[in-house]
Amino acid sequence: MTQTVHDQPSATQPSGAIAARAIGAVKVYGEGAATVRALDGVSLQFPEGEFTAIMGPSGSGKSTLLHCLAGLDELTEGRTFIGEVDLTTLKDKELTLLRREKIGFIFQAFNLIPTLNANENITLPQAIAGTKPDSEWYEQVIETLGLADRLRHRPSELSGGQQQRVAAARALVARPEIVFADEPSGNLDSKSGSELLGFMRMAVTDLKQTIVMVTHNPLDAAYADRVVFLADGRAVDEMHGPTAERVLDHLKKMEG
Ligand SMILES: Nc1ncnc2c1ncn2[C@@H]1O[C@H](COP(=O)(O)OP(=O)(O)O)[C@@H](O)[C@H]1O
Ligand SMILES: [Mg+2]
Repeated sequence: MTQTVHDQPSATQPSGAIAARAIGAVKVYGEGAATVRALDGVSLQFPEGEFTAIMGPSGSGKSTLLHCLAGLDELTEGRTFIGEVDLTTLKDKELTLLRREKIGFIFQAFNLIPTLNANENITLPQAIAGTKPDSEWYEQVIETLGLADRLRHRPSELSGGQQQRVAAARALVARPEIVFADEPSGNLDSKSGSELLGFMRMAVTDLKQTIVMVTHNPLDAAYADRVVFLADGRAVDEMHGPTAERVLDHLKKMEG
């Protein structure tokens, strides 16, 4: 059962349109005695222009949910939608195109191409799609993420934090319909982390970007409009208008 803690009915949906959703999502890994039910019937909606954080213990299914929502992994049962498109009905090619055109993803491991420099990594998805970033927006992304003097460096010449910022820039620069981020500040020091989160918040508030972010960090979750809590592959709670303190309290209660 999903129980809403902390008030505020979900009237926060600006246009009412839903950017992504999962319906009865089940994901089972492995076979026989070794099976793991990573998702155990998750139904969630992610309204357009909203910043959602997903929290929960290690192994609760957060990354699996994100990957299935983004069409990077297939469900065992249930359905996921990007806008009105049911991903489970798409052929591989159609799914690749949809991912390229509509989705940005910031991975836990940065997934940068080692032989390309930072600028080439950032613009690669659009180069593949045959488009170019809006130059003003590109400049703003690069500047806010502090990458201007790192654009000619290859990933091996960058710190972990710089690599993560390149990965964030790559996901945001094309202004996709939805950005999924798996612990985007996990490898950043707290200053770089709060800059990245502030930037993501700005993209949502000012540009109506939709973001779904997995995080362990209550400080990061406080940038979101809503926090969804997962436990054992289920969505067990949600909180609107989170503060770091309330999120921390709630996590403690979940553990207890
Ligand atoms: N590729 C995989 N093969 C087998 N088991 C997996 C795989 N990916 C994840 N799992 C298992 O599924 C469960 C959920 O994993 P995950 O979604 O990564 O959780 P979280 O991101 O919340 O830490 C865990 O028990 C994990 O070990
Ligand atoms: Mg994970």
